Amino acid sequence: MPHTIVIFGASGDLTSRKLVPALASLHRAGALPPGTRVVGFSRTPMSDGAWREALAESTARHSGAAFDAAAWGTFAAGIHYQPGDIASPADMEALRDRLDALEGPGPVTRVYYLATAPQFYEPVVAELGRLGMADEARGPRRIVVEKPFGTDLESARRLNLHLHGVFAEQQIFRIDHYLGKESVQNIIALRFANTIFEPVWNRRYVDPVQITVAEEVTVGRRGAYYDGAGVLRDMFQNHLLQLLMVTAMEAPVRYRATAVRNEKVKVLEAIRPLDDAAVAAAGTRGQYRGYLAEPGVAPGSRTATFGAIRLHVDNWRWQGVPFYLRSGKAMSCRTTQIVVAFRQPPLELFGDGPHRATPEGNRMVIQIQPAEGIQLHFHTKMPGGGMRLRFTDLDFSYSREFAGRLPEAYEPLLLDVMAGEASLFARADEVEKSWEIIDPFVRCWSAADAPVDTYEPGDWGPASSAAWIAAEGRSWFDTCPVL
Ligand code: BG6
Repeated sequence: MPHTIVIFGASGDLTSRKLVPALASLHRAGALPPGTRVVGFSRTPMSDGAWREALAESTARHSGAAFDAAAWGTFAAGIHYQPGDIASPADMEALRDRLDALEGPGPVTRVYYLATAPQFYEPVVAELGRLGMADEARGPRRIVVEKPFGTDLESARRLNLHLHGVFAEQQIFRIDHYLGKESVQNIIALRFANTIFEPVWNRRYVDPVQITVAEEVTVGRRGAYYDGAGVLRDMFQNHLLQLLMVTAMEAPVRYRATAVRNEKVKVLEAIRPLDDAAVAAAGTRGQYRGYLAEPGVAPGSRTATFGAIRLHVDNWRWQGVPFYLRSGKAMSCRTTQIVVAFRQPPLELFGDGPHRATPEGNRMVIQIQPAEGIQLHFHTKMPGGGMRLRFTDLDFSYSREFAGRLPEAYEPLLLDVMAGEASLFARADEVEKSWEIIDPFVRCWSAADAPVDTYEPGDWGPASSAAWIAAEGRSWFDTCPVL
């Protein structure tokens, strides 16, 4: 069956930086279903040809050496543009008619992609409903909703209600591009396709788990958006909680959307609710020096650009094991890693004084980016007399193991939407639960008298972050990419 991908917000950044390069790359690899067409909708007046040209240039820029002009030519023949305003019923009707004309009478899978600013989500959905465009009589109709999915629990609930007024839950794909990253999906393979890790993946052996998404970039030109969001809404409610869920979930009974998502939601349901005093003690935050001078940032803003929080997953597997989640802009390097720290051996047998074993326990470092892979840290006897030990490691690196480029996160996710496979997309209850966990931190951190510490760009957050984790009796794994 042919596919039509209708992009609302066609002239925006997401379309040119991510969506179209991902689709072009899938086309080049022969992975796009035959007869896939893309229809862009936004207010900028443009012809099909002008949009194709603009996209050729931006796709070449974003794809670098992977850009293939010949393959682009055949892909671009299926690209169309319909100028119009979401707020104009006549323009939306013109879009409907254009889609019908392009598709003809046969069945077509249609994917509506909301790549607009979030305030347009509800108006687009309302219009799609009014025009009967969610009706599946002529093939599946799906809708992809980008983040941010609301700004708190209440707005997320409202948006879910609104979506459910027009689309059934199985037609809705709430995207989080972190779940499209190879190394995130590999956590599920690592845990559930092997028998050697699962037996130690629990409170008897693990303490703690640290999940860090450090970015070197500053907020740059996104100040106006970011200042209202801050690191909790921008990174924690979605990406960090997704990483937590795949790290902590139980094995699903089968690898299917409902089973996977049930297990993920159970993790969120097990997260210990905190009262206000506990929330204040369960996190620390900061703002990089220079943030206030970024365009779009309010004078005197106290928005956190760095945050760290502690969550407890109160279930049989994880009771008592803290999960530390941390993320920031303008940090020392770009690295996303999950560090599963194992407990100390019960006895320190070897040596004393300078020969004593280091107090470090074993660690598994799952590195999501920039390079993807896994590193296992353990003690080894050094050659020569005596039991002198050194911490050493075993590596698995995607780039060493598999030739060729890894797909960009949007590529597998777009294919999944076209196929109707929802395992890697958030369900309504999942996003609502996520907000329920993050909202108390947002409220606490934005309370008028709460101080915000600063840090120098290039640091691992403010000094108070190291002090906070030390007070927790632990230390951060402040290591730039291990692979
Ligand atoms: C986005 C956030 O969702 O994720 C950005 O809005 C952030 O602020 C980005 O930079 C990080 O994504 P990645 O894939 O570069 O880690």
